[in-house]
Amino acid sequence: MSIRSLPRTRATILGLVSMLTVAVGVPLIVDAQDATPGASPVTSADPALVQGEQIYNTVCIACHQPDGRGIEGIYLPLAGNPAVTLEDPTYLITVLLNGRGGMPRFDTTYDDEELAAIATYVRQNWENDASAVTAEQVAAVRATFAIPDAAEGTPEGQIPTGTDQATPSDATPEASPAS
Ligand code: HEC
Repeated sequence: MSIRSLPRTRATILGLVSMLTVAVGVPLIVDAQDATPGASPVTSADPALVQGEQIYNTVCIACHQPDGRGIEGIYLPLAGNPAVTLEDPTYLITVLLNGRGGMPRFDTTYDDEELAAIATYVRQNWENDASAVTAEQVAAVRATFAIPDAAEGTPEGQIPTGTDQATPSDATPEASPAS
């Protein structure tokens, strides 16, 4: 009798375990999304945001800082920066592709999907709350606004020397929304 009821007992236990997993798992997911802003642990289930965060933490963080606030007078803030959260992400994508002032260009470092991920991440991390950017949007901006590599770091209208990269002193502060 006890042997006969064993499969059933096992099924019951399995059922209970999976119910528990669901019951425990749901609040865990909700908790992760409620995680406090500021520091940037990988909390999102969205693969684009996870990828964007990885890139941010690898390259952007050194200048723009973990809290996205940059360093006053040197590195522009990305958190709370309206130029980053414009409804039309063309400007943001253009900066990522071509660089700007003392910021390196990333057009050959990352493909459209990776640039879309990083753009989405900076538009949605910290207190920023703007729409996601798609790889198609990056491709369109790349086709229209990307400055050819030969002109790397050269301000528009100047003849590229092909030797020098832009230095921070080439920055264009008049176009900067900060300060
Ligand atoms: C070597 C330092 C450095 C790195 C790395 C860097 N940036 Fe920048 N970034 C700058 C500087 C300096 C500026 C301001 C340039 C200027 O004044 O024209 C800037 C400007 C920007 C702007 C324009 C902000 C505005 O208000 O116009 C955006 C957007 C931006 N960076 C995003 C990023 C992202 C995303 C990454 C990582 C993929 C990144 N940056 C990597 C230094 C850096």
